[in-house]
Amino acid sequence: MVRTASLLCVGMSTDRPQVTVPALAEMKRAGARISMITAYDATFARLVDLAGIDMILVGDSLGMVVQGESNTIPVDLDEMAYHVRMVARAQPKALIVGDLPFGSYQVSVQQGVESAIRLMKEGAGAVKLEGGLHMAETIEAITSVDIPVVGHIGLTPQSYHRMGGHKVQGRNDGMEAGGRDRLLEDAFAVEQAGASAVVIEGVPRELAGEMTAKVSIPTIGIGAGPDCDGQVLVLHDVLGLSDVRLKFTKQYADLRTRAIAATAGYVSEVRSGSWPDDDHSFH
Ligand code: KIV
Repeated sequence: MVRTASLLCVGMSTDRPQVTVPALAEMKRAGARISMITAYDATFARLVDLAGIDMILVGDSLGMVVQGESNTIPVDLDEMAYHVRMVARAQPKALIVGDLPFGSYQVSVQQGVESAIRLMKEGAGAVKLEGGLHMAETIEAITSVDIPVVGHIGLTPQSYHRMGGHKVQGRNDGMEAGGRDRLLEDAFAVEQAGASAVVIEGVPRELAGEMTAKVSIPTIGIGAGPDCDGQVLVLHDVLGLSDVRLKFTKQYADLRTRAIAATAGYVSEVRSGSWPDDDHSFH
């Protein structure tokens, strides 16, 4: 309780309306840009919510930024369910999007529906899955049971091995996976299948702009330039908590340096015996 109250003291508004799926469509119609960021636990979900974020993505990027993996492939549905539950406990006004991890929807359409239901029961307001044309049937089935879906096309991190790494897509024409024409088809397929929004990752800005103009659902870009309807970044990159710098991310603070300095201060005081002092001791 005390900890929650202290977070609410930063003077930012908590009385904004709940962000809903229909509100996203309205934002696209009104030309209002959508902000999305990842969070994986209640503490950070509260902070980004106080900052006024529209959507919180409980992304499988947690495999890399929380679990220390080199890609998102190892993350499983139990882990995603756990983190969605943590974020949902923050009761954010932002819409929570739960990411379906690799292996939780590729086996069959039914598996996709069951996995989506699992994340919704943990508190997600929508689920995200990777893939365009070849995932259309799965998106349609999930939306048919009233679970909003956010698509994800372009550089799809779960295709790490096919792409040969995290590589920019859509630079070449063609209908093969990752080709420019195929990506346009992917965007249409996701829209036609009933998705409420689509993340476009790692494609030339011109292509992302073209997709944004051609589809009726909001596009949320990452490494896709400024012409999308919204933007998403990984929280640890924004806060400067990770030690990698990527061209398409922006560090808005350097919490890594501050966290190391703060901890070093604590280590030094423990070693010198100056912590704890009498003011922080019980009598
Ligand atoms: O898992 C994730 O964080 C994502 C974003 C990079 C879009 O999918």
